[in-house]
Amino acid sequence: MLTESNKWLTMFFRFGTLLVRRGWCYLQTKDKVLVLLSENPNQTVSGQWLANELSMSRTAIWKAIQTLQNEGYEIESVPNAGYRLAKDIDFLHAELIRKKLHHQLDIRVLDSIDSTNEEAKRILNSETKPEVDTVILANEQTKGKGRLGRYFHSPEQTGLYMSVAMPKISSEADPTLLTTVAAVAACFAIEKLTDLKPQIKWVNDIFLDGKKICGILTEGIINLETQKIESIILGIGVNLTREEEGIPNEFKHVIGSLFEKDEQQIKRNELSAAILNEFYTLYENMSDKKYLDEYRKRCFVLGQQVSFTRNKQDYTGTAEQIDDTGALIVRLSNGETITLSYGEISIKIEGSQTK
Ligand code: BTN
Repeated sequence: MLTESNKWLTMFFRFGTLLVRRGWCYLQTKDKVLVLLSENPNQTVSGQWLANELSMSRTAIWKAIQTLQNEGYEIESVPNAGYRLAKDIDFLHAELIRKKLHHQLDIRVLDSIDSTNEEAKRILNSETKPEVDTVILANEQTKGKGRLGRYFHSPEQTGLYMSVAMPKISSEADPTLLTTVAAVAACFAIEKLTDLKPQIKWVNDIFLDGKKICGILTEGIINLETQKIESIILGIGVNLTREEEGIPNEFKHVIGSLFEKDEQQIKRNELSAAILNEFYTLYENMSDKKYLDEYRKRCFVLGQQVSFTRNKQDYTGTAEQIDDTGALIVRLSNGETITLSYGEISIKIEGSQTK
């Protein structure tokens, strides 16, 4: 909160910051109030302070608070003191994400959608195809997509469901390695924000304590004239917490979450911004291939026995290394090696077999 001595100087800078926040001026008053309340968790902020911050009347602030309360936000009115977010809620908000970003991205938050990857695809295929990378986030997905046509369970509130629509790929970047880069970015973000040590299961899964907490689905749009991948959709799904209910039985033993229910330490806005910051930093420096070493360090399948199917034949062998193209090299019992550039392996984790 502001002290008397620095009040005017701070207000000057705060107001300047507010003006330059991209998209801030397009937000409704209620959203701006919500942003300010959530930036001051567990604090009571006065109506006058909110009014000063937003250059609005106290009546406008009061009306915004009423609208938010009617929408279900638990905002306490503390007599003679102000307002406080009663519960430290984890609501997705484009503005809260955008202001943490180091790169210029268009952020769109939806309440419910079939799949953020599908929405990203619709955006890239539309006549108004954007020029900048556009990030779609949703509170829930009704038809979340996993790799190989699988379903990705995406219940509301408990997960981060995010897709980046990349209309153009940097000439330095190898589109086939974007999943690898994204996996490292997600690990970096989790490691920076928590004490957790996520691990990677080749090629696109992130595990914690033997259970999958994050999946990545990268899809490409091919330019028919050049026959080259022109645009990319990078979808990342992270389970922050886990509701037992609704998880298909066959996945119950493999699906995990970053946190236990009611022990969520980070918000989805924070996590999404951190993943995006890490991803774009690695993406801009893809040619140095340093991310591959980070990937290898976290890839728990190396040295383990893995099984996979190739050309309808089942194989088992030892995962030996990941080469510079991101492919997994597996040594079979007869000494031969097989290089897997794509596909899926399964590995035994504490008695169960992952897919
Ligand atoms: C997998 O585990 O096979 C990949 C899962 C990818 C899930 C994410 S959630 C956001 C984006 N939208 C989707 O429908 N899928 C990806």
